[in-house]
Amino acid sequence: MSIQFRPLGTHIGAEVEGIDLREPLSPAQAEEIHNGMDRYAVLVFHNQPLTNEQHLGFTKGLGPLEDTSRNTLRAAADFRLPTTFADVSNLDGENKPFGADDRRRLFAIGNRLWHSDSSFKAVPAKYSLLRAVRVPSKGGNTEFAHMGAAYEALDEDTKSVIEDLVCEHSQLFSREAIGFREFTPEERERFRPVRQRLVRTLARTGRKSIYLSSHIGTIIGWPLPEARLLLRDLSEHATQREFVYSHKWQVDDLVIWDNRQTMHRGRPFPTNEARDVRRTTVKGDAPTVEQAIAA
Ligand SMILES: [Fe+2]
Repeated sequence: MSIQFRPLGTHIGAEVEGIDLREPLSPAQAEEIHNGMDRYAVLVFHNQPLTNEQHLGFTKGLGPLEDTSRNTLRAAADFRLPTTFADVSNLDGENKPFGADDRRRLFAIGNRLWHSDSSFKAVPAKYSLLRAVRVPSKGGNTEFAHMGAAYEALDEDTKSVIEDLVCEHSQLFSREAIGFREFTPEERERFRPVRQRLVRTLARTGRKSIYLSSHIGTIIGWPLPEARLLLRDLSEHATQREFVYSHKWQVDDLVIWDNRQTMHRGRPFPTNEARDVRRTTVKGDAPTVEQAIAA
C-alpha cells in the first residue's frame, strides 16, 4: 500500500497514513516522504508507538543525523536520552520537571519564539522529527509557519530588498530577546554567530523561502535598529494565521518538519507537568552562504 497524504491547511501540513514507522523504510517510501515534505513542509504521523531505536532508524532512512548534543545547557551527565536525540522535554536526568527558575528550563523556553532548528549552525538542520512520549493536560502545542508561502505573498519591492541579504544567527540573540543573558565564556564561544542567507531556495523544487528565525540578531551591512525592524516586520508577515498550522500533540504522534521552509514555536503548558518529547534531526546539505564556513 502506498503512503497517503491528507492536507491539513491551505499552505502547510499533511497527515500521513499507510506506513508503519517501526518497519524498515524502503528507498521508495523514503522518496515518497521527501516528496511529501517538499510539498507540505510538515508531516504528521499518528499512533506510531516507537522505541528510541525505531525513531532513530526511521530518521536515518531520511538522511544523516545532525549532532545536537552541544545545542543545549544540559550537562552530558544530565542527558536522559542517547546523544543522537535532542531532549526537548522539560525533564531532568531523573525524569522530573525542571523547577520554574531552573536555568536549563529558562534557556529551553527560548523555543517558544518562532525559529528554525539549528539555524545558528554553519550547516543548519534539514528535517526535525519530534515524537511525543508524554503530553501535558493542556497547552504545549507546536505551531508551524510556511516560509515559502510567506515569501510568495511578499510585495516585489520587499522581495528585491531581501534577495541577497545575509544575517547572523546565534542562540545568544534568541535568548537575549527574552531577557536571558547570563552565559559563561564557554557558552558564548560555543554559541558564536554564524551567517545565513535571508532568502533560500529549496534545491529539489526551486521554491524560495524566507529563512527567518529568532536566532537572527543582525543583517550584515545594516544598522542594527533598521535590521531588527525589518526582521520584525518579516516575522509578523510570515506568521499570520493563513501560513500557520498548530499541532495539538497526542502520545505516539511523530511530526516531521522541514527547517529550510518553515519556522516553528512551542506553546506554554503547566510548568509542573511532564512534556516528554524527543527529537532527532536530519543534517542539512551545505551552508546557505559561502561566508558561513568562515564565520
Ligand atoms: Fe525547535
